[in-house]
Amino acid sequence: MQAAASAHRLHLFSPFASPSLSQPLAKPCAIRVRNPAAATVRMALREDGPSVAVVGVTGAVGQEFLRVLSDRDFPYRDIRLLASRRSAGKRITFEDREYTVEELRPESFDGIDIALFSAGGSISKEFGPVAVERGTIVVDNSSAFRMVPEVPLVIPEVNPEAMSHIKLKGRSGKGALIANPNCSTIICLMAATPLHRHAKVVRMVVSTYQAASGAGAAAMEELVQQTREVLDGKEPTCNIFKKQYAFNLFSHNAAVLPNGYNEEEMKLVKETRKIWNDTNVKVTATCIRVPVMRAHAESVNLQFEKPMDEDTARQILEGAAGVVVIDDRDSNHFPTPLDVSSKDDVAVGRIRQDLSLDGNLGLDIFVCGDQIRKGAALNAIQIAEKLL
Ligand SMILES: NC(=O)c1ccc[n+]([C@@H]2O[C@H](COP(=O)([O-])OP(=O)(O)OC[C@H]3O[C@@H](n4cnc5c(N)ncnc54)[C@H](OP(=O)(O)O)[C@@H]3O)[C@@H](O)[C@H]2O)c1
Repeated sequence: MQAAASAHRLHLFSPFASPSLSQPLAKPCAIRVRNPAAATVRMALREDGPSVAVVGVTGAVGQEFLRVLSDRDFPYRDIRLLASRRSAGKRITFEDREYTVEELRPESFDGIDIALFSAGGSISKEFGPVAVERGTIVVDNSSAFRMVPEVPLVIPEVNPEAMSHIKLKGRSGKGALIANPNCSTIICLMAATPLHRHAKVVRMVVSTYQAASGAGAAAMEELVQQTREVLDGKEPTCNIFKKQYAFNLFSHNAAVLPNGYNEEEMKLVKETRKIWNDTNVKVTATCIRVPVMRAHAESVNLQFEKPMDEDTARQILEGAAGVVVIDDRDSNHFPTPLDVSSKDDVAVGRIRQDLSLDGNLGLDIFVCGDQIRKGAALNAIQIAEKLL
């Protein structure tokens, strides 16, 4: 299930592949993902496909939505590209057609079957219900609705049944909200769930190493800028994170709560329980920002109800959908953020028995996943595919 490696893909957010990071994103965006030769054979623009809107199309996740839609030949009748007033009028070339970005308004959802939202929680709270009222199924990337009991929180490889009652308007369904889990939660549970199904996780300890891309396009630009400034002996510009990020790391920038955890850590705790439909599973987390451009890494310690030896764990993970095992002890080769950047699969390695627990009841793993892709855009589009 790796994304097709298209020579035509434009890595707008990779400092290694594109000079565009050093420039503001406020410019016409050319998203030309499709291989032109393939386009003559397969057309994603289909009369019988749903009408799709992308909300927040100029952002890090919004841009990835377009890449993933194209990579997966998602069938759509038409597509509406929405962002703030600042971006209205910008042109985006997508699958050989030019579109104009429109300012998000309530009428933007007239006639829209599926809306992919990634414009932040407050926009989701304001416009999500407006879209639902107009019969649109909203797949939301923000945290706005994740913990609302009647809103399914879905990772398609993990709990697709949670959204089985939701149908498109044209299939005698109606408007609805579906929430995409937090990116760290998705990456963690892609690896932990196959093991959980086998031996039941009773406690999970997660430590994250989170990339700049998780904080959006502006944070990625700031990391590049700061890196240049530090190397040039200048004072680093700190607009997004309020402290030096280049050549440093720090506790996640999410708000710290009265219990001492930050919001990102509590998302891992609460969302795992909802997705696994298990209020008893014990989860604790420490979330850290590291100066990596794209893709999160996580160290995950699992305690099981039933024994789980490391060979069985490796076998289970090798057979798990959306997971790839990189676990070469001899050459000390394990997953890295660069291995998974712009890839669909979550990589797992360092699979080893937890020595501190007797009876093979504990396991340590190290997981890396592209959180703009599987942690956001890909997961949302997999959800949308389930509606087709
Ligand atoms: N980055 C990730 O890895 C990741 C992962 C999972 C979930 N998410 C969630 O996805 C959302 C977007 O994240 P991002 O990283 O893509 O952020 P981003 O790069 O900062 O992009 C934000 C997008 O929201 C749009 N927007 C802002 N204000 C708006 C308004 N008033 N009306 C309409 N559109 C507006 C922006 O449009 P303009 O360009 O016009 O300002 C831009 O397209 C957030 O809720 C975030 O928590 C992000």
